[in-house]
Amino acid sequence: MARIDPHSYCDSDQPAVTWFELRARVDFERRVLDGEVTLALAPSAARDRGGPLDLDSRGLVVTAVRGGGGEALPFELGPSDEILGTRLRVVLAPGIERVSVRYSTSPEASALGWLLPEQTASRQHPYLFSQCQAIHARSVVPLQDTPHRRVTFRAELDVPAALRSLMAARFVERRPATAHAATAHAAAAHGDKGAERAIDHWEMPEPIPPYLLALAVGAVESRELSPRVRVWAEPGEVDAAAREFGGVEAMIAAAEGMFGPYDWERFDLLVMPPSFPYGGMENPRLTFLTPTIVAGDRSLVNVVAHELSHSWTGNLVSNATAEHFWLNEGFTVYAERRIIERIAGREEAELHAAVGRAELLRTLDELVGQPDLTRLRGHLDGIDPDHAFSIVPYEKGYLMLLALEQQVGREAWDGFLRRYMQAFRFRALTTEEWLVFLERELPGAAERADVAAYLHLPGLPSSAPVMRSDRLERVLVLPPSVPLEREGARLTPLEWRLYLDHMPRPTPAETCAALDTRFALSRSRNAEILSGWLLLAVESDYPAVLPHVEAFLGQIGRMKYLKPLYRALLSRPATRPIAERAFARHQAGYHPIARHVIDVMFATVP
Ligand code: BES
Ligand code: ZN
Repeated sequence: MARIDPHSYCDSDQPAVTWFELRARVDFERRVLDGEVTLALAPSAARDRGGPLDLDSRGLVVTAVRGGGGEALPFELGPSDEILGTRLRVVLAPGIERVSVRYSTSPEASALGWLLPEQTASRQHPYLFSQCQAIHARSVVPLQDTPHRRVTFRAELDVPAALRSLMAARFVERRPATAHAATAHAAAAHGDKGAERAIDHWEMPEPIPPYLLALAVGAVESRELSPRVRVWAEPGEVDAAAREFGGVEAMIAAAEGMFGPYDWERFDLLVMPPSFPYGGMENPRLTFLTPTIVAGDRSLVNVVAHELSHSWTGNLVSNATAEHFWLNEGFTVYAERRIIERIAGREEAELHAAVGRAELLRTLDELVGQPDLTRLRGHLDGIDPDHAFSIVPYEKGYLMLLALEQQVGREAWDGFLRRYMQAFRFRALTTEEWLVFLERELPGAAERADVAAYLHLPGLPSSAPVMRSDRLERVLVLPPSVPLEREGARLTPLEWRLYLDHMPRPTPAETCAALDTRFALSRSRNAEILSGWLLLAVESDYPAVLPHVEAFLGQIGRMKYLKPLYRALLSRPATRPIAERAFARHQAGYHPIARHVIDVMFATVP
């Protein structure tokens, strides 16, 4: 037996699932998907031989498992592991090519956010969305949930006809829901109240790691931004979104100029409800985005550049496991900043890098007690990837790649990037495989850039690049004082963020008061500014902001904002009750991943 991923029961000696067909009925009343998935097994000696096939699952209720001829196959659900979920072992007879699993998801499925109408912008219709990275796909479909196993798929989603399903896949067609073998059964069993249903057909021709499986169901509309870009959002939000993301086609062109053709046919965007737990998620063909980046001034579109970059680094070339997460995120931050540089100039890219570097140094400080989480090459056996998550693989990875670029020069580095993406297209690789490739292509560069220190030592090598630019200097001379009105008016949101992040902790109450009076920061509509300000104020024990903090914690579910605020509130005796009250009040509106991560924080922050 050969396990290949500490976060999957997948066994590399067993047949590989390379393709699946999913039929699922979306039940908003019971908050479950009822359905059936047929998994196709690649030809192999293991398939000829038969024997166990171990799949990942989490919270799934499995009612039947059958072979390609409809014959029942023995199966067994193992004990439930807090991190991995439950191993679903099917016993294959020799030569079996397909396995069908009939099952239902749990109402607590860790990937699925089920929203009541009042948790959406329209307040009229329910909404469902998935977030499968890192290891939540198994709570939606039983499969080999590791990036080592790429799959293509087809899916039929049975949904209320008033809603629309979206998937990170190619839309085929919508059919009215009539006698549908797998799902009619579920409809009958759970008393369909006669509401009109429809079945949306999807197909995904490009093989993806399972963490990129994604779906959403809601009342959404779209606007065309270019022949290959469309933005989806709730009706009241969609025009603002279309304005915000008007520059996306130019980003794709910039990325293609550097990394080669865009391989996923379409790059559509879905602006999620506020409880979406991330800034963005690079679901192929359909990036999911937090609504907090629709700021009205395109100031936060770097998140789109980031998710777009994953089309090459992450989706085309994937980390082998969560232990090599930096390969996804470090490269993607690097690519994101190259796009920003092309589109908005070098100083803007430097500013982003400076914000990132400051955030990295703060995080490294916070993680001094957990040095293992600050090495790029992770060791995560027994550790939940959602709890290991931090900015470190992003920004430390970025700095390492920048150091390499500076060692070999941009031209040689760009050549390397293109060859790397070509060599590992539609594959997953480890840090070790990457190192071998790097050494072969750019001999000696790793050593000169201190690569081993980034990968294997905690903290940041002293040789790490430092950002410099005039714009940066102009902002960094401001703290700890309060900018004049006209100075403040000239700052972009990113510069505000940089300024707030560099203010001393604590900042005196009079300074906080002056800042808020002069610039109305507590009423900022830019989530980066607002969250930066609220954090500064909480960390300065400035009580006037607390009502705003509590309100903010109920308005958004993006973990980048929730986590630091909860941590700051929790670590101060005076504000701990506020964290408790806010969580009690708002947790039902958070996505299960965010709910769990914050719940664990309550137990671990002293
Ligand atoms: N793939 C990540 C989000 C993610 C990481 C989800 C790990 C689950 C597990 C996405 O590409 C991302 O990095 N988003 C950032 C964007 C930012 C770096 C511009 C975010 O959500 O803030
Ligand atoms: Zn990313």
